[in-house]
Amino acid sequence: IRTDYLLHRANERFDQQILQLQALHRIGSNINSTFDLELILSAISESMAKDLDFEKSGIVFLEKSSQRPLQSAYTGFSNTEYRLFLEGFEELLMPALQQDDVYLQTAAYAPEAWGRFLSALSVSSLILLPMRIKSRLIGFIVGARTHVTLRLSDAERRFYAMYAAQASTAIENSRLYEALGQANLTLEENVLERTKNLVEANERLRELDQAKSNFISLVSHELRTPLTAIKGFIVTLFHYDKEISEAKRRVYLSVLNEETDRLTRLINELLDISRIESGGMQIQWRPVVLPDIVQRVFDTLAVKANTVKLVKDFPPTFPSIVADPDKLEQVLVNLVGNALRYSPADGSVSVAGRRHEDGVILEVKDEGLGIAFAEQERIFDKFYRLDNEINRKNPGTGLGLSICRALINLHGGKIWAESELHHGCRIMFTLPLHLDKETDGESLVAEEAVS
Ligand SMILES: Nc1ncnc2c1ncn2[C@@H]1O[C@H](COP(=O)(O)OP(=O)(O)O)[C@@H](O)[C@H]1O
Ligand SMILES: [Mg+2]
Repeated sequence: IRTDYLLHRANERFDQQILQLQALHRIGSNINSTFDLELILSAISESMAKDLDFEKSGIVFLEKSSQRPLQSAYTGFSNTEYRLFLEGFEELLMPALQQDDVYLQTAAYAPEAWGRFLSALSVSSLILLPMRIKSRLIGFIVGARTHVTLRLSDAERRFYAMYAAQASTAIENSRLYEALGQANLTLEENVLERTKNLVEANERLRELDQAKSNFISLVSHELRTPLTAIKGFIVTLFHYDKEISEAKRRVYLSVLNEETDRLTRLINELLDISRIESGGMQIQWRPVVLPDIVQRVFDTLAVKANTVKLVKDFPPTFPSIVADPDKLEQVLVNLVGNALRYSPADGSVSVAGRRHEDGVILEVKDEGLGIAFAEQERIFDKFYRLDNEINRKNPGTGLGLSICRALINLHGGKIWAESELHHGCRIMFTLPLHLDKETDGESLVAEEAVS
């Protein structure tokens, strides 16, 4: 009989161990096969019920910073019981979880508070298994038996501890996986963004490269045309000196004069660009009366203006500023020159100035063909010229506006275009007063009202 009894006991223990191994296997394989936290939580709770014979079970997952219950799953508890269970979190569960790796409480031996708690849940034994990652509590597993007073052997305690460790790993993996997914998403977005930027930059480089090749053939052409003309007229004047009438000689000389001017202009623009790009452009600060400069520019361009009206529009209170008069004249010559090029014969070109914020704003306006919105920034790019009838007839470098922008920026101002296609064009620029600037040479008299 005694042997029978021993055999029976051994068999029972053996069965139990098999069940435990099955439970471990189940969370080991099932849970680790998914990274979905919800699924993992319910799989653990289910394995507590099916493999380990807990009539009521659950798993609670804690919020990282507050350590408050966040997500959970349960089986066997009624909704009310489970709510009561979570209500005991602060007072009973949390202290118990911090106390032991496997915490067991039974109705038979429980202190007062626990006794009431267990009877409210209608259980006689309750086991709590804290889940930790690197000693941080991430949640816990609960299992309860309704009518059995559980006692745990050392081996069983070790088993439950292992079981909880498996569960924590599964949960942590799922969280890492999710974090990885997030990181991957961001990475992918970054890569897409970068690729897009690269494609754009590449396109822009290609355009610049194209513009440069165009420029080189343009410059060679531009240099060769006046040089050929100059050479031709000089040869004619040289060989046929005596035969040429005085009138013809004057025509030839004026052509020579024009062509030399054109060459000088081109070479100056090229020099300016290279000086700007190497950062070597110096500003000579002087007191400047802008309306006077505009008048000088009008005088210079009077012949070119022909029948186009030139209008100067400054209020009597327009302030004098400190700036580089030669550079501003250069800017205005280019802007008014451009405006004249596109003006109809009976049109007018006006330069208006007024006070603006801490400085002044100038506007060069024409009644020509205007500039489409999409081109209004690009015309300030180096070498950029619009493809139209007028430009084809008037060779140019496309450097003028980029030089203007660099010069205005050096003064601390801004320059931009406003236009509606076919309704004329307005180029605006601002200049700060700079009245406190040290000027070289002439002393600064910052009087208002000059004109
Ligand atoms: N007032 C204007 N009206 C219409 N188009 C203009 C005007 N000013 C400039 N543009 C356009 O901007 C381009 C660039 O001007 P710019 O840099 O001065 O070079 P360029 O005068 O050598 O052509 C011009 O070729 C022209 O297409
Ligand atoms: Mg120009």
